[in-house]
Amino acid sequence: MTQRVVLAYSGGLDTSVCIGWIAEATGAEVVAVAVDVGQGGESLDVIRKRALACGAVEAEVVDAKDEFAEEYCLPAIKANALYMDRYPLVSALSRPVIVKHLVAAARKHGADTVAHGCTGKGNDQVRFEAGIASLAPDLTCIAPVRDYAMTRDKAIAFAEEKGLPIATSKKSPYSIDANVFGRAVETGFLEDIWNGPIEDIYEYTQDPAVAREADEIVITFREGAPVALDGRPVTMLQAIKELNERAGGQGVGRIDMVEDRLVGIKSREVYESPGGIALIAAHQELENVTVERELARYKRQVEQRWSELVYDGLWFSPLKRALDGFVDEANQHVSGDIRMTLHGGRAVVTGRRSEQSLYDFNLATYDTGDSFDQSLAKGFIDLFSLSSKIAAKRDVAP
Ligand code: ARG
Repeated sequence: MTQRVVLAYSGGLDTSVCIGWIAEATGAEVVAVAVDVGQGGESLDVIRKRALACGAVEAEVVDAKDEFAEEYCLPAIKANALYMDRYPLVSALSRPVIVKHLVAAARKHGADTVAHGCTGKGNDQVRFEAGIASLAPDLTCIAPVRDYAMTRDKAIAFAEEKGLPIATSKKSPYSIDANVFGRAVETGFLEDIWNGPIEDIYEYTQDPAVAREADEIVITFREGAPVALDGRPVTMLQAIKELNERAGGQGVGRIDMVEDRLVGIKSREVYESPGGIALIAAHQELENVTVERELARYKRQVEQRWSELVYDGLWFSPLKRALDGFVDEANQHVSGDIRMTLHGGRAVVTGRRSEQSLYDFNLATYDTGDSFDQSLAKGFIDLFSLSSKIAAKRDVAP
């Protein structure tokens, strides 16, 4: 029986050429799988037909938008996940859900190999292959661009020679990855890290410098998950989409940064994640109100580690799974409302209310009649600073 390879297919030039390229290099049949994570662009049916026209024996499209929002974006919000304190893991979150569907397709179509269109320089090759290794250790991975030296010029020549139904001319200067949680733009003039981003590269966000009226929104959370906007119940996917519109319309969620890739390279990326940034800011503040101090402090460390694991492609690893358990437990009481003003590129919290609130007005108030016994503070500080005092008696000259 002819061997089969499942290819992660986007519909673009590179993965379209991969179909024939893999077939020639390996003698295998290629099954193309396109996963919809809200990347927009062409309809998936057009993409499916193109895969067949390019020589795939089978082509499948999977609508994974709700699954992506609920099982991949939501955990990131609960973890306030920001790699290097800034990047909401947009691309890193989508790879594991794509991997899951590639593995399912490999099983269904009897394939023993999975292929992807990544180069050998980025994080995404690691995320695909580490993900496959964790879900299906028996499958082999190949990356034609990396393993069979399929350069862009060779891909264009191949497409023209075989008459593949794909445009080979309009080459965007950027490398773009998008899904419902955000967009990542790199290469082109952005590779000179002194060059500022131009308005042209943004799609999910408006210029924050343009004058417009502020937008106020109330986000309701239940156990860390956004469940309503301005009192209207929403699914996770709807919450992200509506916030992409409203926060994006105010220029919220633009990020321009140099980041540390797993492969050791520093790279410049411009991201936009209006929904992601607004949701994380709101969620973080509700945690401030509802999570006990020691748990909250410890969670910051867990969040950083969680983000690094996901960035590094270890979504399906035992440590990430265990940290998910911690993050869920820490989110037990993160229920309530956050009011936010979206304006001028910022999402600013202006109000919080929660039945799970640990904020005690009578303890916090500076008005007369508070319930905090200030006389206890003196003895507390004496003992709290005792070890420093003893050391200072030895170390500090009088
Ligand atoms: N550097 C980001 C990451 O590793 C985004 C990579 C996505 N690809 C792109 N063509 N911009 O998650």
